[in-house]
Amino acid sequence: MQAGDAEVTLDEVVALCKRRGFVFQSSEIYGGLGSTYDYGHYGVLLKNNVKAEWWRAAVQERDDIVALDAAILMHPRTWEASGHLEGFTDPLVDCRTCKQRFRSDDLEQAQCGKKPSKHPGEHSECDLTDSRQFNLMFETQMGPVKDEGATVYLRPETAQGIFVNFKNVLQFARKKPPFGIAQVGKAFRNEITPGNFVFRTREFEQMEIEFFVPPDEAGKWHEHWLESRMRWYTELGIRPDRLRLREHAGDELSHYSSATSDVEYLFPMGWMELEGIANRGDFDLTRHTEFSGQKLEYFDQGSGERYVPHVIEPSAGADRATLAFLVDAYDTEEVEGRERTVLRLHPRLAPVKVAVLPLVSKEGMPERAREIYQELRRTIPAEYDQGGSIGKRYRRQDEIGTPLGVTIDGQTAEDDTVTLRDRDSLKQTRVPVADLADELSSRLEAPWQSPKSS
Ligand code: GAP
Repeated sequence: MQAGDAEVTLDEVVALCKRRGFVFQSSEIYGGLGSTYDYGHYGVLLKNNVKAEWWRAAVQERDDIVALDAAILMHPRTWEASGHLEGFTDPLVDCRTCKQRFRSDDLEQAQCGKKPSKHPGEHSECDLTDSRQFNLMFETQMGPVKDEGATVYLRPETAQGIFVNFKNVLQFARKKPPFGIAQVGKAFRNEITPGNFVFRTREFEQMEIEFFVPPDEAGKWHEHWLESRMRWYTELGIRPDRLRLREHAGDELSHYSSATSDVEYLFPMGWMELEGIANRGDFDLTRHTEFSGQKLEYFDQGSGERYVPHVIEPSAGADRATLAFLVDAYDTEEVEGRERTVLRLHPRLAPVKVAVLPLVSKEGMPERAREIYQELRRTIPAEYDQGGSIGKRYRRQDEIGTPLGVTIDGQTAEDDTVTLRDRDSLKQTRVPVADLADELSSRLEAPWQSPKSS
């Protein structure tokens, strides 16, 4: 599979997201703020489902991981210890002519501000500065007085909140290695070249596990997490031939890592990182011990053994994963001479699971439909929609990825049955209202595979 094999363009996905209110440009009425996005109703529900599935796999279905929600603002020494203050930089050049900034190690991918068909430096008027290192952390001031000692940073990764809580968790969660700490939260990076919609932004959400293991088990646990995280994406419907693992070459590794593999997805822009799975060794606990003076190690009272655990880190982006699920789900097909756009999302990810629709707005159908909807929504995320022709309403639900549609029609008043429509196969079946909730649950819980051809 190569970049050209992606059967949907990013523009098509962006247009659907806007049309159906998944994602908007942030601060749009002021002309937008570069590379920041706001999630609308269906976008919130979809991203929440992605995060809920991550929590389910990370914590609910395991005995060895506990949850954490650390503050975004951390003691500034954290970033000295982690190496971010010194080393979390990208090489940057400015163009004095067009005033744009570029990553100097990526000029081949960038477009000249004067003539976008050329790369920076290739146009006769380009006037690039020397390359210099630019720290990606956002700085802010803590407290009312603006002085040097009050500088704090918006965290560039959630991981450090986990490392500094290692001792607390060891003590209060009564865990011993191998065990992990999981966290979902916002991270901020002043990226020089953000872009590709929510793929690379300056404010984003991470879903990270730091998994602490005895040093001689690190290799085994790295393998475990590579396999486990790949399976998470495919079980949620990502087609396996659009997903791959790519091992980092030695010169690509972050300062803390001895081995990293990326889970990559075939986005419309090509194969790109979805998640990084790193062996961080004892780098972080050792550095925080050094900088805080607090011993961050494990003491086994049974064997009398004392050691600094090594860390395996599966680190995923919630926004990037959401984008991958959207891209993988986007499909168009011709039905009875008309094109339909449909999001073939895994039912567990779909923002709305069932739409309840009266066939027409008369003959008691809306009233009966509302009764059924109110009953269903107690246990299943449902939506009631009365406006417009039934065809239009089906198309709307297809575009937001609703897997099942229930239509209340003339026959409902006679025998209390409804039509159940399947988003993917378009098959319609008659179901008694008395059996509806059970039928919906069993369909939503059935194994699901993307019907999109690969
Ligand atoms: N703690 C390790 C760490 O932060 P990373 O590879 O820099 O590693 C992990 O980030 C994940 O966070 C990435 O695989 C990606 O999904 C997401 N991510 C990183 N930078 C991002 C950005 N600017 N916009 C959106 N997601 C981003």
